[in-house]
Amino acid sequence: MCILVVRVFLGILLCAPYQCLECPFGCECFAVTRTVKCVSKNLRAVPQSIPGYARTVIITGNNIQRIGPDSFTELENVTNLILSNNRITEVASRSFSALTNLRFLDLSGNQLALIHPEALSIAGSPLQELNLSRSLYNSTSLTDITTALRWGGLRGLLRLDLSGNHLALLPPGMFSHLPNLLHLLLLNNSLVAIYNGTFSGMNHLEVLDLTHNAFRTFRADALRELGKLGSVRILLGYNPYTCSCETLDFVVWLNNSWAQVADVDAVRCASPRGLSNMRLRGLQVQALGCGGPVQGEVTDLSLQTSYVFLGLVLGFVGMIFLFVLYLNRKGMKKWITDMRDACRDVLEGYHYRYEIDSDPRLGHLSQCPDTCIQIPTDTQLKQVTTSPPVNL
Ligand SMILES: *[C@@H]1O[C@H](CO)[C@@H](O)[C@H](O)[C@H]1NC(C)=O
Ligand SMILES: *[C@@H]1O[C@H](CO)[C@@H](O)[C@H](O)[C@H]1NC(C)=O
Ligand SMILES: *[C@@H]1O[C@H](CO)[C@@H](O)[C@H](O)[C@H]1NC(C)=O
Ligand SMILES: *[C@@H]1O[C@H](CO)[C@@H](O)[C@H](O)[C@H]1NC(C)=O
Ligand SMILES: *[C@@H]1O[C@H](CO)[C@@H](O)[C@H](O)[C@H]1NC(C)=O
Ligand SMILES: *[C@@H]1O[C@H](CO)[C@@H](O)[C@H](O)[C@H]1NC(C)=O
Repeated sequence: MCILVVRVFLGILLCAPYQCLECPFGCECFAVTRTVKCVSKNLRAVPQSIPGYARTVIITGNNIQRIGPDSFTELENVTNLILSNNRITEVASRSFSALTNLRFLDLSGNQLALIHPEALSIAGSPLQELNLSRSLYNSTSLTDITTALRWGGLRGLLRLDLSGNHLALLPPGMFSHLPNLLHLLLLNNSLVAIYNGTFSGMNHLEVLDLTHNAFRTFRADALRELGKLGSVRILLGYNPYTCSCETLDFVVWLNNSWAQVADVDAVRCASPRGLSNMRLRGLQVQALGCGGPVQGEVTDLSLQTSYVFLGLVLGFVGMIFLFVLYLNRKGMKKWITDMRDACRDVLEGYHYRYEIDSDPRLGHLSQCPDTCIQIPTDTQLKQVTTSPPVNL
């Protein structure tokens, strides 16, 4: 009672009567700009009697838990509705269906745990931009919002912001009922992979932001999925890329399609330490640690093969040699005997000559003439080494 008296009193005292009668408590109404603001007033529900002229309604920083079909009525002129940071946990069926001209809806910074499949349905699909940044409570909410996007008839939606929601994976076909989407913002989540069908049904996408996620690489099927998007500007920076052989497909893709990746300079290795902060595009195959070893293995292998081959050939030749020896064993025996006999003959010849040499009666035969080489004595050697060089 007291509060009411104070309200009325303040209203009469501070406001122009027309504006105060029209503007709900805790809000500021600006007829000229057609804007209503209810900012940080600890409101527990969407204020009723928002003036019908309002085009922009800003209700932020309050404590509103639930949005329902009775929250917004007779507000056909509202085009922009900002409901960020209100601790909203539940969005009931057809909460916004009275806002038939709603183009921009911001539900960011809430804790949406219960989202009705028809929460976003508005006849005529007027919605163009939906901000769900930091608004999903847990993974059940992701399932709920996926259903709501599917059932909402959001054929006119152009921009969707799902950033900062700890999303780890995207249900296949999650966006397939948003055929006219131009901007899809998935930054600052925990996404690790893109699969076949993740982006199916989006034929007009212009910007896809996947920065600040948990991607370590993009595998061949993910790259195919991204390739299907056509001439879209993809942002892939600030992910913890692991620059190993598993990144090869991705590097080759970056090498070829860098015009599509708008922030290719921010696509850098997080690990291993040796490649930390290196740009992925332009990385050598060897640097990724698969080209080098693979080539090395190839040469190693061919080297090994040739050694094995050589060994086999040598072994074969050796066996043939032994076999021939075996077949010729009689001939060999004869040959060895012959050789031995020949040797003996030669040796006997020497023996004979030795006997002749040592016979003093035959000494004249071994007397050395002047032309014969004699072993020089020590004094003779000295003379040779000390004699002065001959002048030529
Ligand atoms: C919406 O705006 C139009 C034109 O300014 C006005 O005639 C109409 O009454 C408004 N609608 C509501 C529900 O106040
Ligand atoms: C969505 O809301 C967040 C925080 O409220 C803001 O930072 C972001 O820019 C908004 N997204 C778009 C596409 O305007
Ligand atoms: C998400 O939160 C809702 C509401 O608290 C709860 O019922 C549901 O079990 C939670 N889901 C998961 C996967 O934790
Ligand atoms: C990412 O989201 C978290 C909360 O989900 C927020 O605290 C952080 O500032 C965001 N980071 C960026 C780079 O947007
Ligand atoms: C990817 O999905 C499409 C249909 O959505 C299918 O035709 C195609 O075979 C799939 N490719 C792979 C590699 O699974
Ligand atoms: C990428 O391109 C650079 C030259 O721009 C080339 O040196 C490198 O080997 C390529 N990397 C791969 C994996 O093809």
